[in-house]
Amino acid sequence: MTETLRLAPADLDRAAALLRAGRVVAFPTETVYGLGADATDPEAVVRIYAAKERPRFNPLIAHVPDAASAMREGVFDEAARALAQAFWPGPLTLVVPRATEGRVCDVARAGLETVALRVPAHPLAERLLAAAARPIVAPSANRSGRVSPTAAEHVLADLDGRIAAVLDGGETEVGVESTIVACTGGAPRLLRPGGVPRAALERVLGRSLEGAGPGIQAPGMLASHYAPAARVRLDVAAIRPGEAALLFGPTPPAGVETAAARLNLSERGDLAEAAARLFSFLRRLDAAGVETIAVAPIPADGLGEAIRDRLARAAAER
Ligand code: TXA
Ligand code: MG
Repeated sequence: MTETLRLAPADLDRAAALLRAGRVVAFPTETVYGLGADATDPEAVVRIYAAKERPRFNPLIAHVPDAASAMREGVFDEAARALAQAFWPGPLTLVVPRATEGRVCDVARAGLETVALRVPAHPLAERLLAAAARPIVAPSANRSGRVSPTAAEHVLADLDGRIAAVLDGGETEVGVESTIVACTGGAPRLLRPGGVPRAALERVLGRSLEGAGPGIQAPGMLASHYAPAARVRLDVAAIRPGEAALLFGPTPPAGVETAAARLNLSERGDLAEAAARLFSFLRRLDAAGVETIAVAPIPADGLGEAIRDRLARAAAER
C-alpha cells in the first residue's frame, strides 16, 4: 500500500484535491476524525469500506459546508428546519428524505430513500468542504468496530498505509459522534445519542423525541462497537485487583488503589470534559494490556447519554 500523507492545515488544498480525485482522506471534525470521500462518486465511497474493513455497506453521513447545501440534498420538514437552524454548524446529523436532484450517490445511502446530512463546526472541516465543492461522506476514521479517533495519531494507528492522507487538526473538541435525528415524516426520532444532548433538541422542538422504533433504524448501530481489546465492565461499585480503572468525578469506587492503571475522565465531574477524553482514554487504558477496564458510574443526563451509549457498546458481547 502507498504511504499515508500527514498533512498540516497549510496543506488543506492538497487534501481537497485528493478528495476531488476520488481518494480517501481523514479530516478532523468537532466530534471525531472522519474518513472522507466524494459522496457523488460510488468508486470513491467504496474505498472507505475497504480501508475500514467494514463488513457491510452501512449508509454514511454526507458532510456539507452549510445548511443551504444540505437543503439541496434532502427534503426538510418544519422540525428538520428548526433543528438545522438551531444546531448547525454543530454535532447534529439529520436523516431526511433525499431530494430527487440530490448528488449523494446510492452506495453512500446504502440504497435508502433517505440521506443523513451534517454541517460540522470545525474550521478545517468547513474550509475543506468548501474547497471540495461537493458533499463528502465520512464515517469515523477507525477500523470497523474499533474506538473512534479523536487525534490524527489514532487515525494513523488504525489506517496508516490504507488511506491517501490525514489532515492533522490536533485533538477534537466534543469527543463523541454527532447526535442523529430522523425527520422522515411523523414525529422526529432520536437514532443515536451524541454531541447535542437530548434536552437541547427537545427544547427547540417543543416536544419529546421518539426512540428509534422497532428494528435497527440506524443500521450502523450494532450492539458491539467502539470496542477496545480489553473487556469493559460498567457502573462498577468496586474495582478488582489488576483491572484498569476509568474514573469519573472526585470520589473513586472502592479498590481503586489496586488498579493496574487509572485515568479520570473528569475529576470535577464535567460531562463535556469526559466526552472529549472518552475515546483517547479507552485507547490508553487498552494499551496498558489489562484484561478488563472497570468503569465508574457516569450520570445519564446531558452528554452522559452519549457517553453511556458508547461504553455500553464497548462492553457488549462480541
Ligand atoms: O460525528 C459524526 O457523526 C462522525 C463524524 C466523522 O462526522 N461520523 C460518524 O459516522 O459517526 P458513522 O458512519 O460512524 O455513523 C453514521 C451513522 C450510522 O449509524 C448509520 O447507520 C447512520 O449514521 N445513518 C446514515 N445514513 C442513515 C440513514 N439514511 N438512515 C438511518 N441511519 C443512517
Ligand atoms: Mg463509527
